[in-house]
Amino acid sequence: MKKRLNIGILGLGTVGSGVLHILKEHQEKISQVTGYTMGIKTALVRQIEKHQNQTDIHLTTDVETILKDPEIHIIVEVMGSIEPAKDYILQALKQGKHVVTANKDLIALHGNELTQVAKENHCDLYYEASVAGGIPILRALVDSLAADNIKKVMGIVNGTTNFMLTKMAKNGLSYEAVLAEAQALGFAEADPTNDVDGIDAARKMVILSRLAFGMNLPLSAISTGGIRSVTATDIQIAHQLGYTIKLIGAAEEQNGTIHGMVGPMLLPNEHPLSGVNNENNAVFVTGSSVGETMFYGPGAGELPTATSVVSDLITVAKNIRMHTTGDGFSHYQHETKLTAKEDIQAKYYLRLNMTDQTGTFLKLTQLFAAHQIGFEQIIQQPFDQNSAMVIIITHQGSKEQLDQAIAGLESDSDMVLKARFDVLEESICTKDY
Ligand SMILES: NC(=O)c1ccc[n+]([C@@H]2O[C@H](COP(=O)([O-])OP(=O)(O)OC[C@H]3O[C@@H](n4cnc5c(N)ncnc54)[C@H](OP(=O)(O)O)[C@@H]3O)[C@@H](O)[C@H]2O)c1
Repeated sequence: MKKRLNIGILGLGTVGSGVLHILKEHQEKISQVTGYTMGIKTALVRQIEKHQNQTDIHLTTDVETILKDPEIHIIVEVMGSIEPAKDYILQALKQGKHVVTANKDLIALHGNELTQVAKENHCDLYYEASVAGGIPILRALVDSLAADNIKKVMGIVNGTTNFMLTKMAKNGLSYEAVLAEAQALGFAEADPTNDVDGIDAARKMVILSRLAFGMNLPLSAISTGGIRSVTATDIQIAHQLGYTIKLIGAAEEQNGTIHGMVGPMLLPNEHPLSGVNNENNAVFVTGSSVGETMFYGPGAGELPTATSVVSDLITVAKNIRMHTTGDGFSHYQHETKLTAKEDIQAKYYLRLNMTDQTGTFLKLTQLFAAHQIGFEQIIQQPFDQNSAMVIIITHQGSKEQLDQAIAGLESDSDMVLKARFDVLEESICTKDY
C-alpha cells in the first residue's frame, strides 16, 4: 500500500476549495505520479459553520491543531494577507513541514526570508500560483528556460485591470463605468487600489525578476503606475495610431543591471500581448537564445489557481520520495545592480491640455528639443473654448531626458499633462520578414 502524505490547509475560500476538488478528482493520477496518496487532513477557517456542508474533512479555527500535528507533512497556505500567514508559515517550516502558498504579497515582500528559513530546516517552499494563477510561468523560468540567458520578462499579470481595459476598448466605456462592472462581477475588490494602481502587478514583477534574473528588484525601484488616468479617448486614439493599451509589468536585464516598470503601455496592435483580453494573463519572455516566447492563460480562478498549487504539492511529494527537499525553487542568484536612469531607453505617449494661444506649441517643442527628444506623432483636437487636447508620441530617448522634459512641462501652467504612458518599441515578433 502506498504511503499517505497528509496536508493541512490554511484557508478554504476560492483557491482552497479548488485544491480540495483537484486532489479528489485527480487522486489516481497524482498517486501514480508521486508514489503517494495525498489528502487534506485538517483545514483552518475563520467560521466553521460556513464550511460544514462543503466538506467532510476536519475543520478547525485553531492553527495549532495543524501546526502541532505530527501526522501533517505539508501545509498549503491559501488564506492571503501578510499576517498571520507569515507567522504560520515560519512556524510550519521550523517544525519541518513543507509549505506551498499562493500568496503573492507575502512572497514578494518576504520571499527571501521565508526561503532562507525553509532551507535551514531542509523544507520545501513553493509558490507557483502566486504569479499568473494557472500559468506555470515560475517553473518555466527556473526549469525550462534554465539554460538561457533571460533578457526581458514582460506581461499582463493583473486580470482585473486587463478585464477593465478590454471592456473600455470594446465598449468605449469610461474607467468609472468598467470599474463598477468589474466590482459587480467580483473581478475587482471594493477597494480596488492594489489592482488599479499597479501595486499587485509590481509585486508579481518582484517575484518574476527574482527567478528570471536571480536579482532582488526592490518594490521601491519599480516605477509603478496604474490605469486611473487611462480614458476611452486614449484607447481610441492609440488604436488609430496602431497601438493597444495594456497594463504591463516589465523587467529587463541590461549589461548585468536590472530595471522594472509597471504602467499602462502602448503595444503595437500586432504584438501577441495586444490580443490578450478580459481577465486573462500572459507573460512574454525574451531569452538571448530562445528569442521571444509567450505563456498565456487564466491568471486567477478557483480551478486554474488550484492546479498550480497542486502541481507544487506534487513537486514536494517527489522531493520527499527522492530525499531532495529544502533545495528551493532556484539556486540562481547574483548581486542586484539597478540600471541607471540615463541608460534606460523609453518612448512616451503624452496627453496634454494646452491653452489655445499662439506660441504655446512652440514652447512645447522647444522644451523637448532642449532635452534632445523629438516627436514621432502629434494629434491636436479642440478640447474646450480656450484649450486644445494634444497627443504626442515621442521618439525614443533616455528616461532621464524624458523625465527632465516632463518636469519642465509640469512647471508651465499653459501645458497640463493629463496622461503619460510608455510605448513599446517594435519587437522581433511584430516585424515582417
Ligand atoms: N482567487 C484567486 O483566483 C487567486 C489567484 C492567485 C492567487 N491567489 C491567492 O490565494 C490566496 C487565497 O485567495 P482566495 O481567493 O482563495 O481567498 P478567499 O476566497 O478570501 O479565502 C480565504 C480563506 O482563508 C480563510 N482565512 C482568512 N484569514 C484567516 C484567518 N486569520 N484565520 C483562519 N482562516 C482565515 C477564510 O476563512 P473563512 O472562509 O472562514 O472566512 C477563507 O476560507 C491569496 O493569497 C490570494 O492572493 C488567489
